[in-house]
Amino acid sequence: MGAFTTDVQTDMRTLVFATANPNKVKEVQALLPADIRIIGLTDIGCFEELPETHDTLEANSLEKAEYVHTKYGYDCFSEDTGLEITALGGEPGVDTAHYAGTRDPQSNMQKVLQLMKGENDRSAQFRTVFTLILGGEIFQFEGFVTGQIAENQRGTHGFGYDPIFIPDGHQLTFAELDTKVKYQMSHRAKACNLMTEFLTSQL
Ligand code: IMP
Repeated sequence: MGAFTTDVQTDMRTLVFATANPNKVKEVQALLPADIRIIGLTDIGCFEELPETHDTLEANSLEKAEYVHTKYGYDCFSEDTGLEITALGGEPGVDTAHYAGTRDPQSNMQKVLQLMKGENDRSAQFRTVFTLILGGEIFQFEGFVTGQIAENQRGTHGFGYDPIFIPDGHQLTFAELDTKVKYQMSHRAKACNLMTEFLTSQL
């Protein structure tokens, strides 16, 4: 069940993306070649929250993919992302999703902006680790994008911390940039492109 198999009628290959975040599904589907289709957790009857109990992105990413593979039997991939801010010693890092104690992006961004008040070094990076489980084997792919933490929230596109992250080479935050621009250059795009190269080499 659930192998990265080809549908002979459509020539389409299907993989489960182990995430409950529709923004991530949209972003990753837009990056994949047309013959790789991703389905979400609810499509395989998984409605529970995936475990994330470790203190590194690598371990949490692996934990989520292994959970889906072990419990549901599908070839799948997962990803875990962190915002790493130099002046905060790499925080929020693995705590990015609930930095202010909840998953609320407004509270999380406010906490970062408060801690960064008056700070000159505003350098930061988004880092993502993808874990792919294919035929029982595990593969990991990393992507990151460097940038600066803005002084205030700006823009309405995207999700999470996008309104306070200005990628290097740009004046605008991820939330001000056209979504397509973010999709091309994001941490997730870089990790996803490495995974796609690998998947393509397996076909
Ligand atoms: P997780 O990987 O789903 O645990 O996400 C970690 C945190 O990073 C969440 O708060 C997300 O909203 C945030 N996050 C993940 N990817 C992005 C992104 O591309 N832009 C802004 N925030 C992100």
